Amino acid sequence: APLPLHAVRGEILHFLSDPAIHGEAAIEHFADGILAIRDGRVAELGPAEDMLAKLPSDVVLDDYRGKLILPGFVDTHIHYAQTDIIASYGEQLLAWLERYTFPAEARFADPAHAAAVASFFCDELLRNGTTTAMAFATVHAASADALFEAARQRRMRLITGKVLMDRNCPDFLRDTADTGDAESRALVERWHGRDRLLYAVTPRFAATSSPGQMARAGRLFADHPGLYLQSHVAENRGEVEWIARLYPEARSYLDVYDGFGQLGPRSVYAHCIWLDDTDRARMAATGTAMSFCPTSNLFLGSGLFDLASARAQGIRVGIGTDVGAGTSFSMLQTLNEAYKVLQLNGQRLSAESAFHLATLGGAESLYLEDRIGNFLPGKEADLVVLDPQATPLLARRTAACPTLDERLFVLMMLGDDRAVAATHVLGVPAWRR
Ligand code: GUN
Ligand code: ZN
Repeated sequence: APLPLHAVRGEILHFLSDPAIHGEAAIEHFADGILAIRDGRVAELGPAEDMLAKLPSDVVLDDYRGKLILPGFVDTHIHYAQTDIIASYGEQLLAWLERYTFPAEARFADPAHAAAVASFFCDELLRNGTTTAMAFATVHAASADALFEAARQRRMRLITGKVLMDRNCPDFLRDTADTGDAESRALVERWHGRDRLLYAVTPRFAATSSPGQMARAGRLFADHPGLYLQSHVAENRGEVEWIARLYPEARSYLDVYDGFGQLGPRSVYAHCIWLDDTDRARMAATGTAMSFCPTSNLFLGSGLFDLASARAQGIRVGIGTDVGAGTSFSMLQTLNEAYKVLQLNGQRLSAESAFHLATLGGAESLYLEDRIGNFLPGKEADLVVLDPQATPLLARRTAACPTLDERLFVLMMLGDDRAVAATHVLGVPAWRR
């Protein structure tokens, strides 16, 4: 006998492609829709009237009428070990790392601390409607174990890796080229491809890895088809100058990573602010993705991301909160700040493009669009339910919005975790307000 169906009813919106390219054809919207889920995957989607006629009588139906159902958000850059230093005052990148980040990350030598923070972190993602994240752990292998385990218990899709850093950081946070490589390979064996978990080779940035460690990281990335790589590039001007001194032979900061075989599909770089068109062409040609982290870029005073140039070159771009330099776990608040960063850069971000970035665009930047990012049949049924009436101001403002586009824009400007009424992972509620 077929398994009982699970279904959700409400206003449903998802993207079939990029609305910046394909316009209205990129968007599928049901004012009153039903999404049917079997075995954690999307079975079928359609107008409620049609779906009600064909659903079996034993279907479990969650009624979210009056609310908006979207694919779960995809956060393409975040640091779980920085949860407890979010909103730390006064510094730009390099001083912020020394003063706040490294001491906080040192505490992850204690597996009990790592487990406690990993649990809080995953719950906080779900409270904010984020069902997939690409996250940094710390230099401690057990910190990656702790995050994988917390995500596994919640059945989330999660990409992480042990940080590689063997120089220019405190002694108590250093690995070596050998131990970093061996511990990473052991973690790949333990976790990569288990349930919904994937491993990312994680050189923190070119300043904190020796050329020897950078070469080993590039080799590991190439050795296993399907592995990810995550790092930071061209975030802060002081950082860019430092990299130029550390790697005088490289043409640019990005070229350092290129020289060590660290570009390619499933390689994701946070920030990407101080790049030139040669760098961007190289990212496009290699299929390397950018993670745009607006709240972090404003908080650390790093600079303004250039989305128009990335788009013009056809580069895959996702959105990242970059907690703890980022100031919110909320993808809605992150889209709000993305809009403002682009305003300062003379560019626009439509609400449709913003929600595309947070869902299908993010999935594409992680090469996961065959599994997540929208509600096509067979996809993993991760979804977020947004309440346009979550606060008195949201209710008042959205009541005056005649179009979907205007409502979405108000939700991303005024919404935060309060607007997340529920989050489902593989069809099942994982959070309810
Ligand atoms: N560059 C190297 N490490 C970090 C980090 O932890 N956060 C940010 N925002 N940039 C970095
Ligand atoms: Zn980061």
